[in-house]
Amino acid sequence: MDVTGKTRVLGIIGWPVAHSLSPLMQNAALEAMGLDWVYVPFAVREEELARAVTGLRALGVAGFNVTIPHKTAIIPLLDRITPEARLMGAVNTVKRDGDELVGHNTDGPGFIRSLGEDLGFDPAGKRILILGAGGAARAAVASLAQAGAAAVVVANRSVAKGEELVEAFRGSFGGTQFAVMSLDMPLINAEAQNFDLIVNTTSVGMGGTAFEGLDVTRMKPAASVYDMVYAPWETPLLAEATRAGLRCANGIGMLVAQGECALAIWTGTEPPSGVMRRRILAVLER
Ligand code: ATR
Repeated sequence: MDVTGKTRVLGIIGWPVAHSLSPLMQNAALEAMGLDWVYVPFAVREEELARAVTGLRALGVAGFNVTIPHKTAIIPLLDRITPEARLMGAVNTVKRDGDELVGHNTDGPGFIRSLGEDLGFDPAGKRILILGAGGAARAAVASLAQAGAAAVVVANRSVAKGEELVEAFRGSFGGTQFAVMSLDMPLINAEAQNFDLIVNTTSVGMGGTAFEGLDVTRMKPAASVYDMVYAPWETPLLAEATRAGLRCANGIGMLVAQGECALAIWTGTEPPSGVMRRRILAVLER
């Protein structure tokens, strides 16, 4: 890929950002699309966010992704955000539109696309248990309710944080029942047969950690388990769910799909399917 004086610039801001797989997969897709664009990482500390956004404006970048810890803090620094980003309370994609910076959220749509592609799961009319109540859980709850889920139950260590999360959505989605429970495994096990899908949005699973006491064999045989974690590739939760014969997927599909949605927003063209995923699988040697 030749970078010329005409090359358009995309990027990602976050801290840390060195571990991000987005530059690899985005550049693979840009190349496959034959576009004279490049995607670069920008490590931006929390206290430098406002200056970084001013700089990105001045530099005329075409757009950028936003990751931890800036997804919420960036909102007041933008000119506009989409209703979807407003609903999720977070922006992960910014597009330059004339002189304006517009915030979008592709995590929610990316999650729903991954459920369809990786599990064949359509949330409409389904009952779903979400483990965790942070930013990733918020995107999941909002997008599942938007996709017509019958019930979304949030199980979190801090029940107050779970309540706060679902409270924000209760008024907006009359067709979805919301509930909160503590992350108490005997309680969750007792309810497990009522769910079509369990989604882990917490960091439990990273580095091979497990939810002690969670018994996925209590789920219906046709149920699915989605773990947003993908390092290790198969978390202990997914290993148990696979052993129990349940349909399983890790978070790679969501990472890829949010990236494909972002690139479509920036360029106006859907990237060819499979390019980003193949690039990631190649570096992870899967
Ligand atoms: P993200 O943006 O990735 O969702 P976050 O906003 O920091 O990250 O949220 C992390 C979520 O994972 C929270 O729901 C947190 O539970 P608490 O609200 O009770 O803190 C949950 N979490 C993190 N580590 C956990 C652990 N070891 N066991 C259970 N839940 C955990």
